[in-house]
Formats: sequence, structure tokens, C-alpha cells
Amino acid sequence: MGVLNAPADTLAMTRGADHTTELFDLSGKVAMVTGGTRGLGLAMARGFAHAGAEIVVVSRKGDACEEVAAALRAEGAKAAACACHVGHWERLDALVEEVYRDFGRVDVLVNNAGVSPTYGKLTDVSEELFDKVIAVNLKGPFRLAALVGERMAAGDGGSIINVSSTGAVRPTRDIVPYAAAKAGVNAMTVGLAHALGPRVRVNAIMPGPFLTTISRAWDMEMFAERARTFPMRRAGQPEEIAGAALYLASDASTYTTGTILTVDGGAQWSMAGTGEGAPPMIGDR
Ligand SMILES: NC(=O)c1ccc[n+]([C@@H]2O[C@H](COP(=O)([O-])OP(=O)(O)OC[C@H]3O[C@@H](n4cnc5c(N)ncnc54)[C@H](OP(=O)(O)O)[C@@H]3O)[C@@H](O)[C@H]2O)c1
Repeated sequence: MGVLNAPADTLAMTRGADHTTELFDLSGKVAMVTGGTRGLGLAMARGFAHAGAEIVVVSRKGDACEEVAAALRAEGAKAAACACHVGHWERLDALVEEVYRDFGRVDVLVNNAGVSPTYGKLTDVSEELFDKVIAVNLKGPFRLAALVGERMAAGDGGSIINVSSTGAVRPTRDIVPYAAAKAGVNAMTVGLAHALGPRVRVNAIMPGPFLTTISRAWDMEMFAERARTFPMRRAGQPEEIAGAALYLASDASTYTTGTILTVDGGAQWSMAGTGEGAPPMIGDR
């Protein structure tokens, strides 16, 4: 059926290119990005800034946050810095208070900060390491989503994006605590979508291997060999996460919640778990 034969309501509802641009516009929105100083967090923060959002950059290091905020301001965006260790539950209340005092609102929260420390054998995983992995990757994101999400729900609504990992669904022997934490992030995303909907949408991005600080720990020769089996045959570049994040942050995704969006060049389909004696896997540490 040609477009002229389409029902009137369909024609009326079909809007043009301007509307498409509007869908991805974040003008007037405040976006808080944890781990926004480098890697995937920086790419998402920059993408949001270029879509018009005011950015709050959060990481442990105040200097690094300020450097990124200054660079975004130099690119024409509004941006501010907030130092905070997201694994420290009690500091998150103060962080959220500070952001709401200074900015009055948060429309987009990206729980991106994450760590995956290396270890040898399983018994080398200390309680301290295990607790830190859970605190930064799972506990902190939960608390921030709770604090910001309830304010969003009571205000103008918003979008929360949790950054998971394909390790959550393709866990390997070198990332067991991390994979468990990220699997928790996936489950938490769905539960939070129920808890905070309909005014707040909660989704996750599940990245595969990306070339960031994390990838410096990889054996690149081995990675190149494995990457040949990926549908895209390569690792991702940080800026390749920005489109997925902008989709989930903006009105382009008003009917998307509780979704785990994989951005991995298809790599998860080449990642079976490894048993004893198999070559080491590339964990996203
Ligand atoms: N790169 C990959 O291949 C890959 C794959 C799957 C999933 N991921 C996930 O994607 C997210 C970003 O990874 P990335 O590769 O971009 O990592 P990255 O380059 O190492 O950047 C990590 C960011 O998190 C911040 N951060 C670390 N610990 C923090 C803490 N306790 N509190 C606050 N901020 C903290 C870091 O800044 P400071 O050091 O200043 O705190 C930095 O800004 C993580 O959740 C990671 O698990 C990455």
C-alpha cells in the first residue's frame, strides 16, 4: 500500500525529519554520568553534551572530572565536575544532594563507573576484592538509582541507564565476581523499571569488548585471534557506545524500559565459557 493510501491517523502520526532530530535532543536536560572521565563514560557524556544536555561528570578523581568538564565547556556544553567514589554507599546521599542543590534536577543518570580487578586462581579473590567489585559495580548503582530515580519519579520523570557487560551472560573464569555483579545489574535494571515506571525508564547497555583503559590488560595478540570470530571482527571504539546511550537517554526511547541493549559487535555469540586448560579468555577488566 502506498503512503497516500495509508489511514489518516497513520499519516497524521507520521512526522518528518525535524521531529526525528527533536527525538534525540537533550536541550534543557541534566545528565549525570558516573565514570565520565574516560572510556565509555566520557564518550556517552560527550554524546549527551553535543545533544544539548548539561553534564555532571562523576569519578573518584576531582581533577580528572574538572578536566573533562572544562573540555566539554570548551566544546560549547554546560558541564560540571563532582568527585565521588560510587562504591561508598553513604557518600552517594551527599552526592545526590549536591547535584540537586546545584542543578535542581537530574533527567538522565548513567551508572557507568565499573571495575574488574584481575586475579590468579579463585582462592586469590579476597573478601576485600569481592566486596569492592560488588560495591562499585552493583551496590553503588542501586543506591544512586534509588536516590535519583525516586526524585525523578516525583518530578518530571527521567531515564536511568545502567552499564552492564556481556560478561554477565558469557561469564568466564577470570571475571567471576565481576560477571556476578553485572548479572545483578541486568536483574536490577528490570526490577527498577517496574519500581520506578511509568515516569522513569530504566535500561541497561551491555557492552562487549571496547578499547578503553580496561583493554590495556588484554593480551592483544590473543584478542586479535578471538576477534576474528566476532561478527564485526574487532573491538569497539568508545564513541561507538554513544548512539545507544543517546537513544536510551532521549525521547527516542519513550516506550523502551527494562531492556538490556547489547552493544558488542556480535561478540557474545562467539564467547563460550572456558574450562580448565582452555586458553585464557579476554575478560573486560
Ligand atoms: N571496556 C570494555 O571492554 C567494557 C566491556 C564491558 C563492560 N564495560 C563496562 O563499561 C563501564 C566503563 O568501562 P570503561 O572501559 O570505560 O572503563 P575505564 O576506561 O576504566 O573508565 C572507568 C571510569 O570509571 C571511573 N571509576 C572507577 N572506579 C570508580 C569509583 N569507585 N567511583 C567512581 N568512579 C569510578 C574512572 O575514573 P576514576 O579512576 O577517576 O575514578 C573512569 O572514569 C564499566 O562499568 C565496565 O565494567 C566495559
